[in-house]
This record gives sequence, C-alpha cells and structure tokens, in this order.
Amino acid sequence: MLRGKELWLAMLAAILIGALYGAVVMLTKEIPSAADLFGHSLGILGFILMLMTELLYSLRKRSRSARWGRMSSWLEFHIFTGLVGPFMVLLHTSWKFNGLAGISTLFTVIIVISGFVGRYIYTRVPRTTDGMIIEGTLSEAALRQARRLMALWHTVHIPIGMALFVAAFVHIGAALYYATFLK
Ligand code: HEM
Ligand code: HEM
Repeated sequence: MLRGKELWLAMLAAILIGALYGAVVMLTKEIPSAADLFGHSLGILGFILMLMTELLYSLRKRSRSARWGRMSSWLEFHIFTGLVGPFMVLLHTSWKFNGLAGISTLFTVIIVISGFVGRYIYTRVPRTTDGMIIEGTLSEAALRQARRLMALWHTVHIPIGMALFVAAFVHIGAALYYATFLK
C-alpha cells in the first residue's frame, strides 16, 4: 500500500528542479520568462506530467487486465507526477497569474490540495495492493461511511481536473498563437 515513498521522491525531484531554477535565476539575474527556452520547457514538461497524471491512473483503473502493474504503484506514480508536474508549471508562470492561465494555475493548486485530502481518506481504509478494500477489517457502518466519503471526494477532484485542462488547453493555444508563432 501507499507508504509515503512517492511523497519523498516528489520532494527530492522538486528540490533538484528548484535548485536548477535557482541557478538560472542567479546566472541570468532575472526570473525566467514563461516564453523563453527554460520557462517554456518547464511549462511543456510540467504539462506533460500533468496530462499523464490525469490519464494513466484512470486508464489502468478501468482496464480489466491486471498485467499492467499493481494499482498501488500506479497510484504512487499518479501522486508523484501530480506533484512534480504542477511544481514545474508553477515555476513556468514567472509568478504572473493573469487571465485563463492564472485560473488554470489556481485550479492546479486546488487539485493538488484536494489530492492530499483524497490520499488521506484513501489510506484510512485497509486495501490490497490492487486497491480493493479488505472486507472485514472495518465495521459495516465505518466501511459504508468511508466509501461515501471517497465518492464525495471524487465528485470534487475529477471536475476540477477537467476545468483545469480546459483552461490550460485554451491558454496553450493562445500562448502558441500570440507568443510563439506571431513573434
Ligand atoms: C497546466 C499547464 C499550464 C499552466 C497552468 C500555465 C500557466 C501560465 C501562466 C500563469 C502564465 C503567465 C501569464 C501571465 O503573464 O500572467 C503563462 C505564460 C505562458 N505560457 Fe503557460 N501554462 C501552462 C502550460 C503551458 C504550455 C504547455 C505552454 C507551451 C506550449 C505554455 C506557454 C506559455 C507561454 C508562451 C507563456 C508566455 C505568454 C506571454 O509571454 O505572453 N504554457 N503560463
Ligand atoms: C495534476 C494534478 C492531478 C490531477 C489532474 C489528478 C487527477 C485525478 C483523476 C482524474 C482521478 C480519478 C481517477 C479515477 O477514479 O478514474 C484521480 C484520483 C486520485 N488522485 Fe489525483 N490528480 C492530481 C493530483 C493528485 C495528487 C497530488 C494526489 C495526492 C497527493 C492525488 C491523489 C489521488 C487519489 C488518492 C485518487 C483516488 C484514487 C482512487 O479512488 O482510486 N491526485 N486524480
């Protein structure tokens, strides 16, 4: 089950990426712009990690075949990319949050916070490595409550993800059009 290894690895990755960002700031003596090579790369790579977060775990969850790795490993990977991707995107923003891109960043922050809440609820219930709740370890009422809480949480975490990607796609389209091709 989840033991927190993915949180430590995400923190390590964030420290390394943060150090690289710090080095670029020291060398250039300015905040990397979202449209320059470094800031742009952070945006693109971070966005790819976020897309992987959105898609891979859901696809694995819905696949009937258990050959593609344990659910717990996929969820660990979901959390790792769900933290490192948003961190890179945050460094990409150059600390300006105007318009739709700013709204997308806000949704990103909310989904990460909601992820921690979900991880907490998820790990309160004993599960197999395949993510199935182990029956009999909790009383009937506690189990029903945990399931209801998790379902309620899904109705928040999932729509925020969708809203964030709609805003991000519009931002990316507009950014490529105005800041890249028209230059
Ligand atoms: C979830 C993903 C992303 C978020 C939340 C995001 C957010 C932001 C934010 C907040 C800004 C600063 C806006 C401002 O000036 O106030 C920005 C700028 C920019 N972003 Fe993104 N970004 C994302 C992904 C991308 C990707 C994948 C690309 C490129 C394909 C991109 C290209 C740009 C460009 C070129 C700018 C600079 C625009 C300018 O200088 O006018 N972004 N982004
Ligand atoms: C870019 C950021 C993120 C996106 C787009 C995202 C998206 C999603 C989506 C679409 C699901 C639904 C999977 C399904 O049931 O089909 C999900 C589930 C989940 N996410 Fe995230 N997530 C993000 C970040 C995080 C973070 C940072 C955490 C933990 C700290 C997290 C923890 C969880 C948990 C515990 C579940 C529930 C697993 C389950 O019920 O099977 N997520 N996420």
